[in-house]
Amino acid sequence: MKPKIYTISSPLLLPLYDLQDSVVVVIDVFRATSTIAVALFNGCKYIVPVSDINQCIELGMTLNAITAGERDGKKLDGLTCGNSPSQFSRDYIQNKILVLTTTNGTKLINQALNYRPAQIICGSFVNLEQVVKFLTLNQKTTYLCCAGWKNRFNLEDFLLAGAMANELKNTFEIFCDSTLNALEIYNLHAQNLNEFIKNTTHWHRLTSYGCSEQDLLDCVYLNSAPIVPFYENEKLIPKYF
Ligand code: MLT
Repeated sequence: MKPKIYTISSPLLLPLYDLQDSVVVVIDVFRATSTIAVALFNGCKYIVPVSDINQCIELGMTLNAITAGERDGKKLDGLTCGNSPSQFSRDYIQNKILVLTTTNGTKLINQALNYRPAQIICGSFVNLEQVVKFLTLNQKTTYLCCAGWKNRFNLEDFLLAGAMANELKNTFEIFCDSTLNALEIYNLHAQNLNEFIKNTTHWHRLTSYGCSEQDLLDCVYLNSAPIVPFYENEKLIPKYF
């Protein structure tokens, strides 16, 4: 029997599903899970995802770590970095520890823990192939959990769920209307994804705050950070498949 794959299009919908012993893929394309994958791929030792700004600052001091993140898409006073992949080059992040707090992405990682999944990993376009490899090898019920924006639906996260479902459709059973919908919308726009994604609300929100288009295009740069960020002992660590 093939394992099942589901798409949860908003964190608000998490309680409707049975996540226990499953694999949860946290998806926040703009920008948290893209930044996490890029930082780990560029040699960051590990990332501690936290929900609270003060906790981020305190833990940063305790661990002698780089602190980073945003609220409402804007960089925060008191943190060293914002939340764009371009800020975490190999020169900057290699062998360092990162403590990260973001509006939706790190919050969803911590929320998902309450449902006792077997594994939590992070997915984005930048590590699509690695995530697909891991899920294919792992063969467990899988939930593609979209971070969205303050519990609202975000198209870029849903498109990534569709891209994953497209790769997994032969090895997993899809009996989930959200996944069918994600698959359809992804296949409609796969050929012009970089243009289509510019219509999304979060693209407009972030560019209106001064985030560069290149920073956002880095988040959809296919397989540019080929690792899987794995949640273990309150940390995200890199694994390769
Ligand atoms: C989030 O976690 O809310 C996002 O990554 C926001 C952002 O920085 O674009």
